[in-house]
Amino acid sequence: MAFLTSPVTVAVPATSANLGPGFDSLGVALALHDEVTATVTGDQVRVGVSGQGAGELPGDERHLVAATMLATFGRLGARPPGFELACVNRIPQARGLGSSSAAIVAGILLARSLVPGGADRLGQAGVIRLAAEIEGHPDNVAPCVLGGFSIAWTAAAGQAGDGAHAVALDSAAGVMPVVFVPAQRGYTAHARAALPASVPLADAAFNVARAALLVRALTGAPELLLAATEDRIHQDYRAPAMPDTARLVAAPGDRSPAGLPGWLVRPPATGGGRRACAARIRRCGPGCGEIAAGGYPSTSQSASSAPANAWSGGLP
Ligand SMILES: Nc1ncnc2c1ncn2[C@@H]1O[C@H](COP(=O)(O)OP(=O)(O)OP(=O)(O)O)[C@@H](O)[C@H]1O
Ligand SMILES: [Mg+2]
Repeated sequence: MAFLTSPVTVAVPATSANLGPGFDSLGVALALHDEVTATVTGDQVRVGVSGQGAGELPGDERHLVAATMLATFGRLGARPPGFELACVNRIPQARGLGSSSAAIVAGILLARSLVPGGADRLGQAGVIRLAAEIEGHPDNVAPCVLGGFSIAWTAAAGQAGDGAHAVALDSAAGVMPVVFVPAQRGYTAHARAALPASVPLADAAFNVARAALLVRALTGAPELLLAATEDRIHQDYRAPAMPDTARLVAAPGDRSPAGLPGWLVRPPATGGGRRACAARIRRCGPGCGEIAAGGYPSTSQSASSAPANAWSGGLP
């Protein structure tokens, strides 16, 4: 089979998922991107990394983007003998910003671009389904592919259309994400291990109402964000593993930079009109503690250099 021989580049956004009550479902894309260029060449897989993960991530087919490309080539029934990847990574890894989803989505998009007709055989819905299968949950890969604010769900195996699905919604004017990036790493596998196998019915009912409300709050009624970001099925279980985050979220309004659990709603610092500023706070390390001590953040900056304070649009 003839593969595309010219280099292909994709830019994939950071994401924040498990938004408030929307465990494994609600997520947003952020304006901070990894860029990966793939070239079909030689008979080996080679990966160069600059930025986040440089010197740590593997340089061969074990690299997540490369491994995902190989899995995607397998689905498409066509694998080039070798390829090279050049990764420019800006998304902090293991900080709750969906770097693994971005890597997986990048791998799928690159592989399907290199195979003739690949994009026709693996459309947007197929990318989300395959990426969620590799990632294990759909809430980060959905906004990574669709952009903005998205709702993901999974149809059980054996059902028609089994696998992950997602829809994107337009967020209300003036709602903006603000991300606090922890200084310490926290791995998804560890965070998921802290969750119970089942939750009380009353807590499930509590979250059903809040998740529905969060959709309304983010798309048209930001004044509801405080109630809409309450959760009873995942945050408390994980709190002991991320005490700085828990303290920050639980702090009284006048001592927390958020003021509210999970999201910020505030009047504009400048300009007219009502504006809501929404912040996802999780896994905060010492850096976030400093922000907490310093009071309410005056700008929408994260604790690291990540300028993730804007929505990202969908991928082409
Ligand atoms: N750009 C990348 N290239 C290769 N591997 C990556 C890349 N980004 C993440 N990974 C792999 O994924 C791991 C981090 O995944 P993990 O799911 O724990 O955190 P995250 O995706 O950054 O945050 P979260 O899933 O909580 O939003 C890294 O340690 C690395 O093994
Ligand atoms: Mg991840």
